[in-house]
Amino acid sequence: MKKKVINSKKAVMIGCGFVGSASVFALMQSGLFTEIVLIDADKNKAEGEAMDISHGIPFASPMKIYAGDYDDVADAAIVAISAGAGQKPGETRLDLVNKNVAIFKSIIPEIAKRNFAGIMLVVANPVDILTQVAIKLSGLPENRVIGSGTVLDSARLRYKLGEHLSVDSRSVHAFIVGEHGDSEVVAWSSANVSGVPLSEMCEMRGHYKHKENTAEIATAVKNSAYEIINKKHATYYGIAMSVKRICEVIMRDEKSILPVSHMIHGVYDIDGVSLSMPAIVGADGIESDIPINLSGEEALKLKESADSLKKIMETIEL
Ligand code: 2OP
Repeated sequence: MKKKVINSKKAVMIGCGFVGSASVFALMQSGLFTEIVLIDADKNKAEGEAMDISHGIPFASPMKIYAGDYDDVADAAIVAISAGAGQKPGETRLDLVNKNVAIFKSIIPEIAKRNFAGIMLVVANPVDILTQVAIKLSGLPENRVIGSGTVLDSARLRYKLGEHLSVDSRSVHAFIVGEHGDSEVVAWSSANVSGVPLSEMCEMRGHYKHKENTAEIATAVKNSAYEIINKKHATYYGIAMSVKRICEVIMRDEKSILPVSHMIHGVYDIDGVSLSMPAIVGADGIESDIPINLSGEEALKLKESADSLKKIMETIEL
């Protein structure tokens, strides 16, 4: 059979709300693609965003950004999906499940019909559930369907720890695993700053109340989205940078380790559920899980997070 042709420099964003548009804005500046196509149920909205973002091209690098349709996914290297309802004040991500699964039921078959041969990146919430729904509905190999997962939560954690310790957040290595949502788990036991265990680093920087401080930081990170949504009704810049980072790792075949949502098989006694666990990511999507060390308590919480997602998955008819 002839190998499917992929335009290695083309991305498609399905959904042009705040998250989709901000992500395309970040991607436009990244120089990773020569073509970005915006698709939205409201074509005018896609056209308006494409025009607006295109006007930044003279300050970035030459490329095409335009509103398109599902035929554009056929040769794309990455299709990102941000379409769906966002959280309103007081709503959890899981509250969005019915609305957004229904939306995915209309989107994913359209992609599958085009014989899509690239990487599917799910960004809409609840991202772990929708990643699994996308795998099922698309029939794509599991390694090629990735959810943005806790890449954003882990960035929020690194940012907060960087501020707390007054060090560059890029030197902070810390992951949030599990659900991108209320049952997420901070992997404190493996957190470090350039190889120095976190608790040692805290003491070096004059912080001795490890228990209180970590609890406070974990809560602040978990509640970040609620706080931002209460203040400005949506979150989009943090996720946009996360989408850009994930696309960069895929397009450059970096084999970086990212806590993306993906199907887990047999890690920490978890099987057949999509959630975030660090994985090596490259041009083929998920290459391999990196089951980082967790304490007994963290592993237990991760299992609980997986079980709660599994229960929701069982209620979904596909
Ligand atoms: C966020 O965490 C709402 O999932 C989105 O910002």
